[in-house]
Amino acid sequence: MPQIEIQKDIQNAVRSPAEIRFAQELHALAATDTDAKPPGWLLSPRAVRTFILGSDGKALSHKWQNKKTNTVITEKFYGDDALVDRCIVTLAGNRGLMLVGEPGTAKSMLSELLSAAIAGDSTNTIQGTAGTTEDQIKYSWNFALLLSAGPSLQALVPSPLYTGLKAGKLVRFEEITRCPPEIQDALVSILSDKVLHIPELADNDSILFAKKGFNIIATANIRDRGVHDMSSALKRRFNFETVKPISDKKLELKLVMEQTQALLADAEANVNLDIDVIDLLVTTFHDLREGRTEEGTVIERPSTVMSTAEAVAVGVSAGLDACYFGNGAIEGEHIVRNLVGTVLKDNPEDAKKLKHYFDVVVKARAQKFPIWETYYKARKWLR
Ligand SMILES: Nc1ncnc2c1ncn2[C@@H]1O[C@H](COP(=O)(O)OP(=O)(O)OP(=O)(O)O)[C@@H](O)[C@H]1O
Ligand SMILES: [Mg+2]
Repeated sequence: MPQIEIQKDIQNAVRSPAEIRFAQELHALAATDTDAKPPGWLLSPRAVRTFILGSDGKALSHKWQNKKTNTVITEKFYGDDALVDRCIVTLAGNRGLMLVGEPGTAKSMLSELLSAAIAGDSTNTIQGTAGTTEDQIKYSWNFALLLSAGPSLQALVPSPLYTGLKAGKLVRFEEITRCPPEIQDALVSILSDKVLHIPELADNDSILFAKKGFNIIATANIRDRGVHDMSSALKRRFNFETVKPISDKKLELKLVMEQTQALLADAEANVNLDIDVIDLLVTTFHDLREGRTEEGTVIERPSTVMSTAEAVAVGVSAGLDACYFGNGAIEGEHIVRNLVGTVLKDNPEDAKKLKHYFDVVVKARAQKFPIWETYYKARKWLR
């Protein structure tokens, strides 16, 4: 597997790309991968699956930095193994993959992991915005070179799409529906013919044929500007997969615990994370998202998205709060203090819904469980 050279500044990056963070795991998979690979892929579909879903504790034996090493592949995407299989199969075919869903359901994370495993590069990405232009999708020009020597390959500034076609790599298109529909439509013919026309260049260079390995993974959020804004011509060129929030509370608890711990370690914050306190957080998110508690009480759902990603964010803030303003042990109070900024975003009604949840559900649990009692007592921070 080609290693992306680790530059000094990337080691100090707040967040490095998946192929750097999981370089050892990718190396272990490449070294032990004996299955057939689709053309242009660095790993076989089975190895890509293992990279995303984990090796179930099994260690792979390989040589890493000149030493014999055993590497366990960690589970990265939780809750829907069949979805991961379908995504991999789509990418091995000739249609693009469109991941749609609520915010914070790990669409971007899945697209990053797939690109890292299949192409060894998750940074070949177009970030869709209301201001994205057709040039940013296809190619643009270095104007100094263009004016001095006319159009040439040297004067052409490649877009991630151009790079993907030329090198036979995956292209990530984030938040595709944030781009105006006429800009999205620039993709239609490229995805059908797998060709990019560059009429400004001389005959030999005016057509760029996609090399094997090229494909697109797009993501779209159904809360913002929705997928209904996409033209049906473009929709037909993608297989759609809906990524749903994790429905199993135990699995969500495991994920929030692991990711909160990892992010706090990254921030070099020394925090004693108590799983029972993280359980308060995950249960609150679960109840508010479902609009119904485990005891069967019906509650009003806030309009804010109560995603797993938001739960991790609250867990990390609560941990930092406990580390810097407390004694390093996370408690219910830290969760409540940091919950407010997540739930209360744009709709003042959400404050009432959260308060009602504490007055009814948390209060009832507080009478049975001491940990819920401390949580209930901290409700003063909701004001
Ligand atoms: N099923 C899941 N498996 C693993 N992590 C998950 C899962 N669901 C949510 N997460 C959390 O979500 C975070 C990533 O969210 P990501 O930004 O990829 O979501 P998104 O769906 O792209 O959201 P948005 O629509 O806002 O762009 C992960 O780092 C993880 O903490
Ligand atoms: Mg995203």
